[in-house]
Amino acid sequence: MITDTNRLHIAIQKSGRLSDRSRELLEHAGLRIQTGKNRLSARVENFAADLMFVRDDDIPTFVADGICELGIVGLNVLEEFTLGQDAALEVLAELGFGRCALKIAAPEQFDYQGLKSLDGARIATTYPNLTKRYLQQNGINASVVKMSGAVELAPRLKIAQFVCDLVSTGDTLAANGLRPVETVLESEAVLVRTTKPVSGDKTVLLDALLKRIQGVLATKE
Ligand code: PRP
Ligand code: ZN
Ligand code: MG
Repeated sequence: MITDTNRLHIAIQKSGRLSDRSRELLEHAGLRIQTGKNRLSARVENFAADLMFVRDDDIPTFVADGICELGIVGLNVLEEFTLGQDAALEVLAELGFGRCALKIAAPEQFDYQGLKSLDGARIATTYPNLTKRYLQQNGINASVVKMSGAVELAPRLKIAQFVCDLVSTGDTLAANGLRPVETVLESEAVLVRTTKPVSGDKTVLLDALLKRIQGVLATKE
């Protein structure tokens, strides 16, 4: 399906905080998404486009490579990806959902004295680039330990004293005896497009779809 050169490909999160609202936005833009057996992709019945349901961390790669012309992804994931590289991506719109923040958190009983408490510490995170930039911008010398998930376990496992992770409701932090102490990035879902050349026929499709999406977003202002 991915080799279908006459159709647009749109990457959205397979399952997670952005999935439902991403799908809804496309439906409000008039796309009738086929419900099928395939849980990794779906055809749009009334528009020459296919949806790709992927891990959110893979969305920037697919869009930057031009495999998908459009994607919906959290600014957190996007910025982590683009930091320090010249990625062929452009943010078209902030979508107003999936709001959360990337925060540094400390054990509840830790006597946090501000940023200086982080000096010389170890911080576990899935967002090493954003975390390192924040520390650097604030002149803090700390080491960053990259984890792929379950970051909140790090302090209990003595992997690191602090974590830097996404906070939405705050339930995950609280459940693990942690509290937020610094905000690294405020995030929400964004619409991104590739800046790789899009072939002639698809440019027309892309423009038409973007117009429809902008129309939906305009009514929500
Ligand atoms: C994030 C983060 C926390 C949780 C926080 O994970 O890693 O585990 O959400 O949300 P809360 O404040 O509402 O409890 P995410 O859903 O992005 O999953 P992932 O880490 O597997 O991508
Ligand atoms: Zn396809
Ligand atoms: Mg994720």
